[in-house]
Amino acid sequence: PPATDDRPPGGGVHTPTRAAIRAPHLRTDRWWLAPAATAAGLLAFVVYSTWRAFANADYYAAPYVSPFYSPCLAENCEPMRSGPNWELFGTWWGISPAIIILIFPLGFRLTCYYYRKAYYRGFWASPPACAVAEPHKKYTGETRFPLILQNVHRYFFYAALLVAGILSYDTVLAFRDEHYAWGHMGLGTLVFLANIALIWAYTLSCHSCRHIVGGKLRHFSRHPVRYRMWQWVGRLNARHMQLAWASLVSVALADFYVYLVASGAFDDPRFF
Ligand code: FES
Repeated sequence: PPATDDRPPGGGVHTPTRAAIRAPHLRTDRWWLAPAATAAGLLAFVVYSTWRAFANADYYAAPYVSPFYSPCLAENCEPMRSGPNWELFGTWWGISPAIIILIFPLGFRLTCYYYRKAYYRGFWASPPACAVAEPHKKYTGETRFPLILQNVHRYFFYAALLVAGILSYDTVLAFRDEHYAWGHMGLGTLVFLANIALIWAYTLSCHSCRHIVGGKLRHFSRHPVRYRMWQWVGRLNARHMQLAWASLVSVALADFYVYLVASGAFDDPRFF
């Protein structure tokens, strides 16, 4: 660096080994638009899901159960007595059962590689965008507590497989009517079908899934089945961001649909 370097002190792009550019960044496009839109979208979901998770009501309208409350694990799931639930927690559990359920899908999304990028940029400006320096003085990445815990993502992936399995079961049950006879199809059934397709696509497009399926192999030629599966997962993985958003919206819509029907604001149109 030049001897007359008068850049402000600090780490990252201000270290003496980096080019002596005083401008905070050289981008002239609207680089702030993507992180601002991301933050707004995530915030809207956080507000909606917090309201619904704590509501502890209007989550079951036969034959539909809200994905936020499935499987219902507490005895206080009274309206669901004849629905798909396992009463593992006694009546002492006064808090909304969704709080227990949501730990798993939320943990999966919070530690997801894409969402990490999204909220690091949207909420922490770390960094705000490509080629825009972050305002923080120090950068330790994900090498220290608490961010080092992001490494548990693979385990949340296993839990997410279970969650997707349970939501698939709910979707199959959405083909029954309110008397539990098979052959029903309502608008809710279609909403559930669209949601479960997106949930599976997002879950299987996970980077951890891609590594589990095709990682640690020396020769693809000796593992043709895993190679083929790795190619499929890779194709989905290329759309991971889009699937993350589409499934986030679809799961909120599926819950909202159940809320509308359960609260009596809307009647589920029947096709069969
Ligand atoms: Fe996004 Fe695993 S990397 S879900």
